Amino acid sequence: MNTEPSIYFAPFQGITTAVFRQIYARHFPGVNKLFTPYFANFEPGHALSPAKMVAMRNQSESGIEVVPQVLSKSADEILWLAKVCEQLGFKELNWNLGCPYPQVANKKRGSGILPYPEMVDEILGEVLRDINISFSVKCRLGYHSPDEMSALIPVFNRYPISELTIHARIGRQLYSGTPNLEAFAETASQLQMPVVYNGDIFSGEDYDRFRNWFPEINLLMIGRGILNDPFLPSLIKGFQLPSNPGTTIRAFVDDLYIAYRKERDDNPSVLNAMKEYWAYLAESFDEPVRVFRKVRKAKNFIDYEEAIDHVFGNFHWVGSENRPSAIPDSYR
Ligand SMILES: Cc1cc2nc3c(=O)[nH]c(=O)nc-3n(C[C@H](O)[C@H](O)[C@H](O)COP(=O)(O)O)c2cc1C
Repeated sequence: MNTEPSIYFAPFQGITTAVFRQIYARHFPGVNKLFTPYFANFEPGHALSPAKMVAMRNQSESGIEVVPQVLSKSADEILWLAKVCEQLGFKELNWNLGCPYPQVANKKRGSGILPYPEMVDEILGEVLRDINISFSVKCRLGYHSPDEMSALIPVFNRYPISELTIHARIGRQLYSGTPNLEAFAETASQLQMPVVYNGDIFSGEDYDRFRNWFPEINLLMIGRGILNDPFLPSLIKGFQLPSNPGTTIRAFVDDLYIAYRKERDDNPSVLNAMKEYWAYLAESFDEPVRVFRKVRKAKNFIDYEEAIDHVFGNFHWVGSENRPSAIPDSYR
């Protein structure tokens, strides 16, 4: 089986904002779904804050469906947000069971709920009884251990979850180590809904290795790999890249910067947003450390614009193809 995969752009709190999704989708083909960073701390029955409404602005970008994500352990909260999403025209809501950060996980939210399958069961039961749009889940292989999956699989299989994305790490790992492909294989083989793989696909070679081991998995969620190299979905799908990809990258970051300045009325927080993104983008230049240092030093818009001129004048965009593969070539 060698059909083209569907590629989902993973959510990143603070980075894959509505503006980012819009500008990204205008410049780069290859992504099949865009996810919003998670929504939390809203009050059912009360209007969403203006900032949250902005974050939910468009239901699609350049023809690519946008999927909102919720972080919650309350079925009532999830159902209320699902209703808002439905009224706004979204087709799917995604439930975050993956966030690993202790301040979230210690409250049995995100991946912190995974050791409590009975809670997951109860919430899924209530949500899926009443929801009118598709409900998908994004989880890790467990919080303390991938052994937690054996109790979660029958729970997930009991409900019409539209897709289950698995970041193939446990919560306690945060982002360290490598994805656990054995545990992912074991889990995926027992799940009855479409499974989406997530974790450490950074290059075309990573994708090829992944595909060798999992020819049956055709749904991928990719995060840092696309932040580092926005052309990665095109590379994976075999699309022709522009002859001078650095020019497209420049047009993309310039548009992103202008769009943020416009949206935020020239608020200096734009610089932080751009620097946060450059921490990823710098990885695909020939000298990542020097590129990021240059951008990080900018103290105002003029500095930033000079830094960008310097980066594109003095360093080369090399993309992701020379990166050492992060996916082990034999894990069995
Ligand atoms: C700064 C940061 C913010 C993130 N925010 C979210 C989020 O809001 N929702 C979510 O499901 N995952 C979030 N993630 C996890 C990513 O979506 C993704 O699952 C993870 O990076 C693994 O995929 P990758 O190896 O392709 O990057 C975040 C990760 C980072 C590093």
